[in-house]
Amino acid sequence: MPALAARMNEVSISASVVMTMKARELAAKGIKVISLGTGEPDFPTPPHAIEAAHKAALAGDTKYPPQDGTKELKEAVQRKFRRDNKLDYALDEIMVANGGKQCIYNALMATVDPGDEVVIPAPYWISYADMAKVAGGVPVTVNCPQNNGFKLRPEDLEAAITPKTKWVMLNFPNNPTGAACSREEMKALAEVLKRHPHVWVMTDDMYEHLVYDGFEFCTIAEVAPELKDRTLTVNGASKTYAMTGWRVGFCGGPKALIKAMVNMQGQATSGISTIGQAAAAAALDGPQDLVAERAAIYKQRRDLVVDMLNAAPGIACHKPEGAFYVFPNIAGCLGKTTKGGRRIETDTDFALALLEEKYVAAVQGAAYGMSPYLRISYATDTESLREACARIQEFCRELS
Ligand SMILES: Cc1ncc(COP(=O)(O)O)c(C=O)c1O
Repeated sequence: MPALAARMNEVSISASVVMTMKARELAAKGIKVISLGTGEPDFPTPPHAIEAAHKAALAGDTKYPPQDGTKELKEAVQRKFRRDNKLDYALDEIMVANGGKQCIYNALMATVDPGDEVVIPAPYWISYADMAKVAGGVPVTVNCPQNNGFKLRPEDLEAAITPKTKWVMLNFPNNPTGAACSREEMKALAEVLKRHPHVWVMTDDMYEHLVYDGFEFCTIAEVAPELKDRTLTVNGASKTYAMTGWRVGFCGGPKALIKAMVNMQGQATSGISTIGQAAAAAALDGPQDLVAERAAIYKQRRDLVVDMLNAAPGIACHKPEGAFYVFPNIAGCLGKTTKGGRRIETDTDFALALLEEKYVAAVQGAAYGMSPYLRISYATDTESLREACARIQEFCRELS
């Protein structure tokens, strides 16, 4: 076979995909595997969004879209940013992409030169680091320790910024920990960022609406308007509206950055499926009660999972503010042997043994840049969660 590009050395297969594939292999053998590995809502897309897509297709909305997004969706995004975030973006400061993921990719590709540093709070969504590397950049991780609720400390952020820093990435509520920042905490981070005007700020607000116990979400450009002209606010329909497969994300940012990102996207995809955009516009503009109703269900699941995991010997699970993940510490299980005779030296050993012996798929913390942890997604039905946690408890009880 002719050679692949050297940049492919920088692209890893996501550990959650690997776990999902292993889980599927077991399921194909007829084994009942419970997957807590994937980060997607188990709820259906709201019917009014599906109807809007159907209508758009029947009405002939089937031609190439504008590269930056349809006017209808961009206006809906503009209203969303005003309504939820008190942020005013002009239409040429907004773009639509194939998921929040492509917004982030476009932004990094449009700005990162070889050797530029991208500061990423750890643990992190793995794609940030891989995308930064593909763009020629160098990921610089900053630990957000459990004893600080997995939040980014201003002094650690300050220490990570150098003259080579191009971006600081923020993602609260966070994948994989579920940690979210209060307004005060966000302000403290903003104070650091204000001191470094050469740095772009990217905030990935994908889990904005999934916060519990009255926690109030905030985003950095709202908390620190002085940073708005160098902040990219990324969001999307995937998590809020259970629309992962529609692939619609959007972002707001300074006009020059958005223009460069649209050029980048134009060469890659020519824009986003027109019917997906019609669906996303209907979701953004339609009734929002479903979002809060689903958040209430996620909250109950979070509480169930945290309580059950904390009852498993060797596991300590922090209760986070949001998203649909928990990130239990499994340090107390290391150095032990499973009932099936597997030795657990790392969180990867734990995740593999749990899948092979108890048929529960979760992802090792190592895949997110922090060990020894597991990422558990509770975006699955309550009965499966209860059963999965019971299997984890049994797995831990049997360790010797
Ligand atoms: C933190 C974070 N950002 C972005 C995304 C991508 O979302 P989208 O489906 O909009 O591309 C995900 C999906 O898992 C995520 O967890």
